Amino acid sequence: MRVAEAFRAAFGADPEAVWHAPGRVNLIGEHTDYNDGFVLPFAVPWGVTAAVTPRADRTVRLLSLQSPGEPVTLATHEEAKGWTRYVVGVLAMLGDRVAGADIAIDGDVPQGAGLSSSAALEVSVAAALNDLHQLGMTPMELALLGQKAENDFVGMPCGIMDQAASALCEEGRALFLDCRSLASRTIPLDLAAHGLSILIIDTQVHHEHAGGEYAKRRAECESAARKLGVPALRDVTDLAGALERLSGVERKRTMHVVTENHRVEALIGLLRAGAVTEIGALLNASHLSLRDQYEVSSPELDLAVEAALRGGARGARMTGGGFGGSAIALVADERLQSVQDSVSAAYAERGFQAPRFLPATPARGAHRLA
Ligand code: GLA
Repeated sequence: MRVAEAFRAAFGADPEAVWHAPGRVNLIGEHTDYNDGFVLPFAVPWGVTAAVTPRADRTVRLLSLQSPGEPVTLATHEEAKGWTRYVVGVLAMLGDRVAGADIAIDGDVPQGAGLSSSAALEVSVAAALNDLHQLGMTPMELALLGQKAENDFVGMPCGIMDQAASALCEEGRALFLDCRSLASRTIPLDLAAHGLSILIIDTQVHHEHAGGEYAKRRAECESAARKLGVPALRDVTDLAGALERLSGVERKRTMHVVTENHRVEALIGLLRAGAVTEIGALLNASHLSLRDQYEVSSPELDLAVEAALRGGARGARMTGGGFGGSAIALVADERLQSVQDSVSAAYAERGFQAPRFLPATPARGAHRLA
């Protein structure tokens, strides 16, 4: 294994454990997690592998195969910069339960595609430390730790979806998660049996303001919930009545969150009924709602969705936080080429940078490799 060899070369001994954690795509349930709602992501076949040996002192030595050079040596958590913050954030959140560590990282999540490489990094390191220090944390506790590292250390106010998907997903299945109770179960997602694939369309564009807009959406939802006198938008039962009491963006955001939660439940109903070919309409409705009510899409994402549908996709939507990143399309296998051709041609015509296509098969969550 490449990462174990790099560890040995840098630190002079074998790592005590090697853990892998995947990135994710979200099938449906977007911007619902921090509203205590429902999500339905699945893990992708790409992720982060962390080779780890605990240290007795508090020093952290870090090496990434994606940032060649000497290992970075950090005497205190405050010295962390860039990608090292996601790792050191996990160590910081573990507090006195761990000391320092030697860590080598290798990752193959396509960068900037919005497939949660940061959650994969947090969960792989958290899982390895949990194992080596015998902390007895459950996969959900590891996900919560990763989220806390990102919220409190990195400063990104994300919900729990990405880390939960990375920690809990199972091969061939999607993860249905209630983000309030944190109850979860996996649901079979056997696309191949229906002659279907989920195609990831990576726009290769990531807009700078995404982080600020994310925090703004979250604040707008919290403000709307306060005005409605409910703990979170998840609790809105009378949508028409709620919309009458709100105005402007808060009205639009509420409309999205409440209807998106219903779409998650409807999609699960279809999967349970074995009607996976019928989920396309829900994907399309989710996209329109994210575009028009939640206002987190982008011209590249909208064009990817429109051109995929023109090329014969059964449904398509942006996935993840938005403002760039990736869209997903549900495509019958015999249409895969025509969908890709349609999107590529539309991008060329608009003068957009060529998109990248990736096949998504539901992969396994965090696990030990060595
Ligand atoms: C990002 C966040 C998640 C979630 C999605 C939107 O990926 O990290 O917690 O809020 O956006 O659904």
